[in-house]
Amino acid sequence: MYKTSLNTQINRIYQVLSLGLVVSVLGCEPTDTALSQEGLAGTEAGESGTISSQGGEEAGMNAAGELASGQEMAGDTAGVTAETCQPNIEQWPQMQAILSESCGLCHGTEPQFGAPFSLMDYESFTPEHALRVAQSLSEGSMPPAGQEPLNAEERMSLYSWLSCGELGETPTPVPAGGFSSSRPLLTAPDELPSNVDFFELRADGFTVPTRRDDRYECFTISAPINEERFIRRVETIVDDARILHHVVVIPDAGGREPGTHSKCDDDNPFDMVYAWAPGQGALQFAEGGIRLSPGQALTLQIHYNNSAKYENTSDRSGVRIYHGPTEGPEVAVLTLGPVGFEVPPRSREEVTGYCELPQGTSLIASFPHMHEKGARFQQSVTRDWINQEPSADIVWEDVITLDGWDFESQYVYATEMDFAQGDLIKTSCVYENDSDEPLRFGEKTADEMCFNFAYISPPIPVSLCNQSTLPAQRYIPGECAPSESSTWAPPPVEVRFEAGESRALSASSALPTGQYWIDEAIAIVPSDVVEQYRFDLVESGARGRGIAVWTDEQNVILDLNSEMRLVAAGLSFTERLDLSLEGTVSLRESTDLNDEFAGSFDLDISCGNLDNGQLWVNPDAPQVDTNGQMQVKGGWVEFPIGFGPIDLLIRVHLNRMN
Ligand code: HEC
Repeated sequence: MYKTSLNTQINRIYQVLSLGLVVSVLGCEPTDTALSQEGLAGTEAGESGTISSQGGEEAGMNAAGELASGQEMAGDTAGVTAETCQPNIEQWPQMQAILSESCGLCHGTEPQFGAPFSLMDYESFTPEHALRVAQSLSEGSMPPAGQEPLNAEERMSLYSWLSCGELGETPTPVPAGGFSSSRPLLTAPDELPSNVDFFELRADGFTVPTRRDDRYECFTISAPINEERFIRRVETIVDDARILHHVVVIPDAGGREPGTHSKCDDDNPFDMVYAWAPGQGALQFAEGGIRLSPGQALTLQIHYNNSAKYENTSDRSGVRIYHGPTEGPEVAVLTLGPVGFEVPPRSREEVTGYCELPQGTSLIASFPHMHEKGARFQQSVTRDWINQEPSADIVWEDVITLDGWDFESQYVYATEMDFAQGDLIKTSCVYENDSDEPLRFGEKTADEMCFNFAYISPPIPVSLCNQSTLPAQRYIPGECAPSESSTWAPPPVEVRFEAGESRALSASSALPTGQYWIDEAIAIVPSDVVEQYRFDLVESGARGRGIAVWTDEQNVILDLNSEMRLVAAGLSFTERLDLSLEGTVSLRESTDLNDEFAGSFDLDISCGNLDNGQLWVNPDAPQVDTNGQMQVKGGWVEFPIGFGPIDLLIRVHLNRMN
């Protein structure tokens, strides 16, 4: 029975871990896993396309013709709009000066070097043409590579002129969705941060098929910057407001080639940079921002909804990303919330996850995220968890509560607060599963998620933090431990992960009888496994408390409470893993040179969640005690456990209590 329970726990961690890995692998490159095949198979021939400046040419022009019709409804829902307009003639002299200096070499009165037109006379700037030129600036495609780029100020004034001053407008946030929130929507100042440049990531005149109501299209680019920058502000550009539903910016390629777009129904993000729904304003950091590397892939996921079955839709919505030098505090998005959960059919249930912060940080804003069956979202924090009196009531402070949920109305909320190391964050979601199938955690829209994508500064070493059970503050004796051991108060130990191939101990001998604390622990992972799963051995670890008892009859008890944190491919999963065993040990008499267990104790289990197996035991060198006697105070014990398909070696040091 206990064996099964350990295996279940382990399998669960393993499944979650491998799910995370598959998701992150999906983000990097197409693989032959079942998940990614499904994801990629979703791309229908003829519905994908390219969004490079060249490829966009035709679509851009077509889009221009359609834009006017999309405007009527854009007015009050919109952020910045992608309107065509006639640039102001009064500013022409200043603009001509910039154009002539930066573009004149090729787009002069007589275009040369393959440039298709002149940019030297005001008359050529029809609304459509102005839009096209503005687009070349916002994509960073002109002037071409190798030419002196425009400086930020020139680019902005030119762009602003071409789009008749649209740059920098922000809407007043108006929440929608019919539910209440304990926190206000995030707002951004109208004024841009100083010293910024920008680029845009936009749809290319995308046509939403009328035969489907919902359509998720993912547009991927590689960031057109040539040095590390901080994203200082992101705002949405609403073009065809009739069909635009919501927008997410994800910091990877999702398996797409930069410059292309395709359907993205089945990969909801584990990580994001920005999200928008009608009513949301811009995201702007008062100081610093999110790090962006040259050439880094960014994916714009647009959720279109064409339930009104508009014909001939053509959308150029997207985001404008303002970036500045890497100055000021760095901001990161920390994903908080339970993974691997399941809600039974025909039930209303709450799922909960915890994160004990490994490091202090400040929360700037929050983007709560569930899928379609969500009914309530709540995140709260209790301070200095590890030092709380276990019997005391836990005091939870609200981070954000959404009383109700609307999948179509997902927003970023202002949730400024400070977190210290050891604070425990609880994330809970209520789901109403009205179907006959269980509702499972997963990245597909038909699955569920319960995340807060939290903007924090400074970044902490993990990007996803979750423990599925309330982490223990103190040692709780397991099945095989003597009940009085609850008073032995073993101190917490940090379990290190190390890569290795072999056992450290080769010969065993008995430990002195007595009671022990576990005061050091190491988990050894085979090196090839480390590589295969992209294990982060520095950030992976566990915290545990444990005891051991060794009797004259060579009876051994080992009892350990732990929370394992596995960090692989940038994702972190934490699960409770308790180990409790009792058994007798007998030294293995073996003359067989090939017996790999020669020198170990055979362990004959009478209680607990480990199979019969081997223990290697290596007592410490004797030390002089307070009475002048030579005493063995402790020793190392080593034993293998299977972790899914992975064989781990656990090595603990026991320290005698008396
Ligand atoms: C070194 C030569 C050169 C310079 C300098 C240059 N261009 Fe171009 N431009 C080209 C060439 C060649 C093409 C056509 C091929 C292409 O689209 O890449 C082009 C095409 C374009 C197009 C049409 C393609 C599209 O994306 O719609 C626009 C708009 C444009 N340039 C704007 C500008 C602006 C604005 C500047 C100055 C800020 C500029 N160019 C500077 C060479 C240049």
